[in-house]
Amino acid sequence: MFTVLNHLDLSYLHEVLVIGLFEKNKQLDGLAGEMNELLDGQLMTLLKEGDISAKKKAVTKVHTLGKINIKRLYFVGLGKEEDLTFEVLREAFGKLFKTVKEAKLTKIAVALDTFTNGKIDYNEAAHALAEALPLATYQFAGYKQKANEPEKQIEKVIVYTQGAQEEVQASLTVGYVYGEATNSARTLVNMPGNMLTAADLADYAVEMAKKYDFEYEVLEKEDMEKLGMGAFLAVNQGSAEPPKMIVLKYQGKETWENVIGLVGKGVTFDTGGYSLKPRESMVDMKTDMAGAAAVLGAMEIIGELRPEQNVVAVIPATDNMISGHALKPDDVITSMSGKTIEVKNTDAEGRLILADAITYAKHHGANYIVDVATLTGGVIVALGNHTTGAMTNNEQLFEQLLEASAETGEFIWRLPITEKDKERVRSSKIADLNNSPGREGHAIMGGAFLSEFAEDTPWVHLDIAGTSVTSSAHDLGPAGATGVMVRTLAAFVERFE
Ligand code: BES
Ligand code: ZN
Ligand code: ZN
Repeated sequence: MFTVLNHLDLSYLHEVLVIGLFEKNKQLDGLAGEMNELLDGQLMTLLKEGDISAKKKAVTKVHTLGKINIKRLYFVGLGKEEDLTFEVLREAFGKLFKTVKEAKLTKIAVALDTFTNGKIDYNEAAHALAEALPLATYQFAGYKQKANEPEKQIEKVIVYTQGAQEEVQASLTVGYVYGEATNSARTLVNMPGNMLTAADLADYAVEMAKKYDFEYEVLEKEDMEKLGMGAFLAVNQGSAEPPKMIVLKYQGKETWENVIGLVGKGVTFDTGGYSLKPRESMVDMKTDMAGAAAVLGAMEIIGELRPEQNVVAVIPATDNMISGHALKPDDVITSMSGKTIEVKNTDAEGRLILADAITYAKHHGANYIVDVATLTGGVIVALGNHTTGAMTNNEQLFEQLLEASAETGEFIWRLPITEKDKERVRSSKIADLNNSPGREGHAIMGGAFLSEFAEDTPWVHLDIAGTSVTSSAHDLGPAGATGVMVRTLAAFVERFE
């Protein structure tokens, strides 16, 4: 996909050369200045007239009318030089690639060094560029009989930089892996419940394990019964689809210590169970496995980049259905941890399956746990659709996730879990825990419930109910699944200490 070259060769015909432009009192310097001279000062005129914009994320196409050996120049506005951040840069590249794709161009050249400032060097610019390409141009194939004309894809990007070629190439590879893995997760989330059952999710994970040489395990119903996973099994009770507990292990250290557990909610469809969802809220509940998809996406990055870390991924996969066998409100179930749970709401199923998955992650030696789940509608009310809710029992672990998320631009914000909140999830008269102690602080109740299973293990809970899907297209992707937390989890694992 990427070829890195050290200097711009004008004897070579380019369809498009992309140049970054900072707002600078109507001046053109560097490469833009050189192009201006080659084009007899015409670029300066366009800039003065406002036909080329240096505003943040503005993309301007200029046809060179055969005057130089480059057919078109694309200028990407970057705003004020001192204000450019990694996040803005990634979005600016996203806009660029959307424009390039719309124009049906398959090959472009980018003057990478015009996208750097004092804070962002060519390696970071390369990462932003390579990550934005797959993210911005992603499209879910769908199932139409007569598929649309296969869209022209960008096939080649020539990257010009004064930077060290190998380093830039490596940064491009990393960025591209991050983007592609996010797209893998998006595809899983966009797939409907009948096309992606728990068994399908398990098959997908096993394929990945074989590809990257991960150790793996898929527990069947009988195995779960033996292990006493009563909370997970209860959710699956009403289903015709067998449950799967999926485990992937990546060992990047010599010994199995300091193990990071990544746990992802894999509800392939959530009807609510007997606490049935109203018809409008049930639509889109195919996306209730976005936590599982985030964990699998992160494992794809880990498999590609092979960091020196130990990671165990645990995914409880099932749908949440009704039948004569299904779980009912008021039922009391026993989790693998031994704790009993009074089920007040069968639609609070995520915390039930995660309870056993967290216990099982510890069973596999997880010393730290991060769970990712589309857990509550409450987090959407609290934080909206752009911020993931986080809850924790460990400041340091949370700080590390926060840092990773700042890098990836996937914002997280912490909600508290107080002793009073814990009392509420322990408020059942007849069991240890209550899975739904009322609507107040809804998202927090989910977190407080899970903390009962994390116990003393440092743990962070990420509620992605609001961020896993978007209703409108954005600079880094179309409407639909976002693949949120794939990149944050991977960045967190890479830098974990
Ligand atoms: N899967 C839902 C949460 C959800 C809501 C995800 C909207 C994405 C968009 C979850 O299982 C659920 O139903 N939660 C209940 C919890 C309640 C019954 C305590 C909710 O949020 O209403
Ligand atoms: Zn539910
Ligand atoms: Zn759910």
